Amino acid sequence: MSSVILVTGGTGLVGQAIKHVIETEPEGSRFGKKAGETWVFASSSEGDLRDAEQTKKLFEKYKPTHVIHLAALVGGVFKNIKNNATFFRDNMQINDNVLYTAHTLGTKKVISCLSTCVYPDKVEYPLDENKIHLGLPHPSNFGYAHSKRMVDVANHAYKDQFGSNFTSAIPTNVFGPHDNFDLEDAHVIPALLHKCYLSMKNGTPFIVAGTGTPLRQFIYSRDLAKLFIWQLREYDDVEPIIFSVGEDEEVSIKQVTDAIVRAMNFKGEYSFDTTKADGQFRKPASNKKLLSLIGDFKFTPFEQALDETVRWFLQNYDTTARTGNKKSV
Ligand SMILES: NC(=O)c1ccc[n+]([C@@H]2O[C@H](COP(=O)([O-])OP(=O)(O)OC[C@H]3O[C@@H](n4cnc5c(N)ncnc54)[C@H](OP(=O)(O)O)[C@@H]3O)[C@@H](O)[C@H]2O)c1
Repeated sequence: MSSVILVTGGTGLVGQAIKHVIETEPEGSRFGKKAGETWVFASSSEGDLRDAEQTKKLFEKYKPTHVIHLAALVGGVFKNIKNNATFFRDNMQINDNVLYTAHTLGTKKVISCLSTCVYPDKVEYPLDENKIHLGLPHPSNFGYAHSKRMVDVANHAYKDQFGSNFTSAIPTNVFGPHDNFDLEDAHVIPALLHKCYLSMKNGTPFIVAGTGTPLRQFIYSRDLAKLFIWQLREYDDVEPIIFSVGEDEEVSIKQVTDAIVRAMNFKGEYSFDTTKADGQFRKPASNKKLLSLIGDFKFTPFEQALDETVRWFLQNYDTTARTGNKKSV
């Protein structure tokens, strides 16, 4: 049977990882392309999903049977703090347009991407799939967090009223090729990688914000891609699933920095700017539900994933990588 899988946000970090996996895994395998499948990776230039008409046109053009909905206004903590209204409104519009259009045009299944930011600020760890709505999210990015939480509410409402097969995934911190390396706006791994690169190139000090002690779970974008493909084919339940490495695989920001230093072959020194905020010390998420359902799944070792990311960054620095350098050109 033929199917059309539309990946919104198909040009981003996660979208490009799904494209890579679908194109490189053996055809017909668990994560490879199956016979009769057409995959479409949409960019915002094909349709601004904040706009209902443009969303409808995109769906009418490709007639997706399935949607992996990744498109979102995404940003680091500083951009979030300054723009809570924009993060809330843009993402509410994008998500409402995608789900409503999928519903009205009869799309069979939609998987939307949430984030561990949706979780309450004050909650018992580890995070699991039942704790999303137990309290208010962290104030720094409450606009983004609430807009993402509402996807879970919408999924349940569509299921309740229309029996829709809409669900969601909750990844922890993602990194990999095609990440956003723009220092104004990057998450921690791409930001540190870019800073290390500039330090090697220009001899500028390599300064890491904070104390280096906070712990995080990082998932490689190409592992995450496989989990989305699995969810598309093998999981039909409205309840979200956390996509994360195990709780015992947390790494500290210092460990991340040391791994970057090794992968980049950086011979200089780096220092911590302890006047900068650390954020939460840790916010471990449980991947028990995922592992109980998916069976055998091997996550790429962190150092290997980082090496692949560094290689991609160096190869694409002057061309397609989002470094922020082209903004002033
Ligand atoms: N990165 C992380 O650490 C992380 C962690 C947890 C969850 N997530 C979630 O994962 C998903 C993908 O994130 P990502 O890191 O891959 O983001 P990304 O690299 O910044 O990519 C964002 C994608 O969304 C598209 N997009 C943005 N605004 C749009 C609009 N108005 N209309 C249509 N498309 C629009 C962009 O299209 P163009 O580039 O063509 O403009 C791009 O393809 C998001 O839902 C995010 O919330 C990310």
